[in-house]
Amino acid sequence: MSAPNSSFDPVEVTALHPDEVQRAVDEALAAISAATTLDELKQVRLAHAGDRSPLALANREIGALPPQARSEAGQRIGGARGRVRSALEERQATLSDERDARVLVEERVDVTEPWDVRPRGARHPLTTLQERIADLFIGMGYEVAEGPEVEAEWFNFDALNMPPAHPAREMTDTFFVESADSGVVLRTHTSPVQVRTMLTTSPPIYVICPGRTFRTDELDATHTPVFSQVEGLVVDRGITMAHLKGTLDHFASSMFGEGIGTRLRPSYFPFTEPSAELDLRCFVCRGASVGNPDRPCRTCSSEGWIEWGGCGMVNPKVLVACGIDPDEYSGFAFGMGIERTLMFRHGVEDMRDMVEGDVRFTAPFGLEV
Ligand code: DAH
Repeated sequence: MSAPNSSFDPVEVTALHPDEVQRAVDEALAAISAATTLDELKQVRLAHAGDRSPLALANREIGALPPQARSEAGQRIGGARGRVRSALEERQATLSDERDARVLVEERVDVTEPWDVRPRGARHPLTTLQERIADLFIGMGYEVAEGPEVEAEWFNFDALNMPPAHPAREMTDTFFVESADSGVVLRTHTSPVQVRTMLTTSPPIYVICPGRTFRTDELDATHTPVFSQVEGLVVDRGITMAHLKGTLDHFASSMFGEGIGTRLRPSYFPFTEPSAELDLRCFVCRGASVGNPDRPCRTCSSEGWIEWGGCGMVNPKVLVACGIDPDEYSGFAFGMGIERTLMFRHGVEDMRDMVEGDVRFTAPFGLEV
């Protein structure tokens, strides 16, 4: 800023000369209308209306004028700055309107378009039920054991005390891989996982083995050639049938509701001795249909019980085949179909619904991923 000077002629200060002021305004207005984006306009504002713009610098010179000259110069500069400011505002408004209109077109979303042509998939209810069962047993200290679906006959049959003449070994039940004498089958149950576990670990053993199993059954409402089972195996010192019963009762009430009740019915399995069929209290009539012709129950044929699986005390011959001393250890085992469990739990009447993969069947179970 120049020093005060009483003999100063404002016209002599170049920056305040009307022509100079007009030139600064013209340049500013030209730059403003040439700005085509808000960013460009920002630069223009800095250059022509910022602190270091020609008009701002000229404004500072006013203070150096003699008092009588200040008013006129002030009006000239003030008017010039005002014109530039309003041109900036106007251009700012125009450019923001243009930007808004462009964004509306460019970022348009058609809310009527189908948003998800392929809806997200979810796991099958059989899988989630299998995991729920595993979780229940994990909560009791069990581990999950797995074995191959393509299995050696020795694990699937021989080690489980099923001699070569056993009916389950006939081709009618079993899928053989390659030929009937290949010695390799698609496992017909999850029990071979028992053998694999006992051969690779030593007692105490507490395992649960869910998995896929195969039999040469025709697909109908109650059979499917590919199905799933869950196997339980406990081997420890002093294990008795009371442990088996208590475990199964807990399993049953966790699956079907408190107090559902189980019954062990004497039966035969080569790999358990004694063996039992595990029945479940009919979850529909709860036994009220028995001997009550007025209230027949279709679910249990008015018997009050429904077969759920097989179980028993591990046959000492199996323990020996797996290198476990039956004088020191005893164990229990059980096995049941997961499809059947799902049918009971959710009132599914036709097994084919579970294998066909129609989402209208699976969706009501919830989309767990
Ligand atoms: N493996 C038998 C089956 O597939 C089911 C079974 C019965 C498993 C008794 C067991 C058991 O562990 O103890 O029919």
